[in-house]
Amino acid sequence: MTKPILAGALALATSLALVGAGLAQSAGGLSSLRGASVDEQVPVEQIFQQETQRFNREYRQQPPLIPHSIDQYQIDVRANQCLGCHDWTNAGDRGAPTLSMTHYLDRDGTEMDHVAGTRWFCNQCHVPQANAPELVENTFESSTGR
Ligand code: HEC
Ligand code: HEC
Repeated sequence: MTKPILAGALALATSLALVGAGLAQSAGGLSSLRGASVDEQVPVEQIFQQETQRFNREYRQQPPLIPHSIDQYQIDVRANQCLGCHDWTNAGDRGAPTLSMTHYLDRDGTEMDHVAGTRWFCNQCHVPQANAPELVENTFESSTGR
């Protein structure tokens, strides 16, 4: 009877020691990409604000960057406010570019009148453009002009 209890106590002690080590690690030296400690909230700086002129695409298949703010536009299972301007049924009235045909093809390539489920969550592919310094240094080069 005592053996399982002992084993249990040992396991508990080991996991407590592990948790302790984890805490010690997060306190010492770990920081987020912006240099803050991991549990600190970093408010977005002005420098990351939107650029409104259009940026060129960096490669032919790139989803175009969004040249306007999207803070107010809800996208969830039922609602997609982007479609209020970009769907083919509204784009003319709103003076917005119409979604290209690829957004109306289902997975079998069938053309539809409503946007495809695979294109519902616009910001999976499209992100607002900003002239922000890179968080991680990289050697990316545009494929234009090659
Ligand atoms: C109130 C109307 C409106 C809403 C809502 C709206 N847009 Fe736009 N969008 C525009 C207009 C107008 C332009 C063209 C701006 C320009 O030409 O400078 C545009 C441009 C774009 C472009 C660039 C297209 C290109 O060919 O370069 C993308 C991508 C885009 N919007 C995505 C979105 C997404 C994603 C949402 C929802 C989160 C959204 N828009 C919501 C009006 C809207
Ligand atoms: C799976 C990725 C993906 C999703 C999701 C997606 N798009 Fe796109 N979008 C693209 C790509 C890639 C292009 C450029 C090539 C093309 O037209 O297919 C594009 C092009 C566009 C354009 C420019 C069309 C033109 O002819 O210039 C607009 C506007 C746009 N998308 C808006 C949206 C909106 C609004 C949504 C959400 C309803 C959305 N996209 C969802 C990938 C995506």
